Amino acid sequence: MTSTPIFQASAEIISNREIGPDLYWIDLLAPDITQHASPGHFVHLIVSDASPDSHRPPWLQYTPLLRRPFSIAERDTDQGVFGLIYRVVGGGTEVLAMRRPGEHVDVLGPLGQLFKPIQAGRPVVMVAGGVGVAPFLSLVQETIRKGLVPPEEMTVLFGAATAGLLSGEEKFRDLGVSARLATDDGSRGHHGFVTSLLEEIIQQEPERCTCLYVCGPTPMMRVAQDMANNAGIPGQISLEGIMPCGVGVCMACVVPCVNPAEPESATRYERVCYAGPVFDIREVVLT
Ligand SMILES: Cc1cc2nc3c(=O)[nH]c(=O)nc-3n(C[C@H](O)[C@H](O)[C@H](O)COP(=O)(O)OP(=O)(O)OC[C@H]3O[C@@H](n4cnc5c(N)ncnc54)[C@H](O)[C@@H]3O)c2cc1C
Ligand code: FES
Repeated sequence: MTSTPIFQASAEIISNREIGPDLYWIDLLAPDITQHASPGHFVHLIVSDASPDSHRPPWLQYTPLLRRPFSIAERDTDQGVFGLIYRVVGGGTEVLAMRRPGEHVDVLGPLGQLFKPIQAGRPVVMVAGGVGVAPFLSLVQETIRKGLVPPEEMTVLFGAATAGLLSGEEKFRDLGVSARLATDDGSRGHHGFVTSLLEEIIQQEPERCTCLYVCGPTPMMRVAQDMANNAGIPGQISLEGIMPCGVGVCMACVVPCVNPAEPESATRYERVCYAGPVFDIREVVLT
């Protein structure tokens, strides 16, 4: 388990723009967090605005009370700025989408365990569903920035409900990484689930997939996990459960796990915020 220093910062919002239907990209100025973050890390945000000069009604200044977790999608260490991609799904993300550049949000991070680095000569496939693409943007960018492996050894399979939710895929192409797309409604790429693309690769180009990384909705991850386990492909999975405290105290984020070396071993419970969000793909029992 890695231990990275955790910082609490009042981060200035540099930009917060809609990049798809109910899909946003936010850039936050927080030099310490940016400096220490690595692929797989997430941050925990107080999305509401309780600053003394807040123009919001008092009931909204502390709503929602609990922090919300988001994966770090990109970082610019020179500027001290990191980026998040988020989908508006409820009260917290709705408030976040209303926040404006120049305002501040309270951020705790970087939190959680990291992806294992990609190794040269061992081509990987990343399977992303919706905003599950966020940690892979960071993984690909950092891998290329550090010159760890050539871009052609990474393949991204990115699926979403519709074309407008595939924002971010152009960043992979700009880095020379092959991104194969799928949409549920057929508006872009393969018409169907992204896991069909994974099945195709495992059957037709197994040499491309010596290791698998997965992040997205649970049903998608369950299918990808089954495929990986059946084909004996090692990998990692990043979970996006509900996370009230984010620092291992409340136990509300636990998931059942087994020992990967002994799949029939007794189930134990791990905290996603502390032991994860990145786990061995054979370890987590997705319910
Ligand atoms: C480690 C981690 C990284 C994450 N990274 C991202 C990211 O990069 N981008 C992003 O958009 N989201 C990410 N999430 C999910 C994000 O935290 C939730 O979507 C957000 O907290 C919802 O807050 P809300 O107040 O808007 O919705 P709520 O009002 O809390 O919930 C609205 C609806 O969404 C459901 N919901 C809430 N949280 C989740 C969740 N975690 N997974 C699935 N359904 C949920 C609720 O059950 C409810 O139906 C991440 C979660 C974790 C744990
Ligand atoms: S969110 Fe509280 S222990 Fe994980």
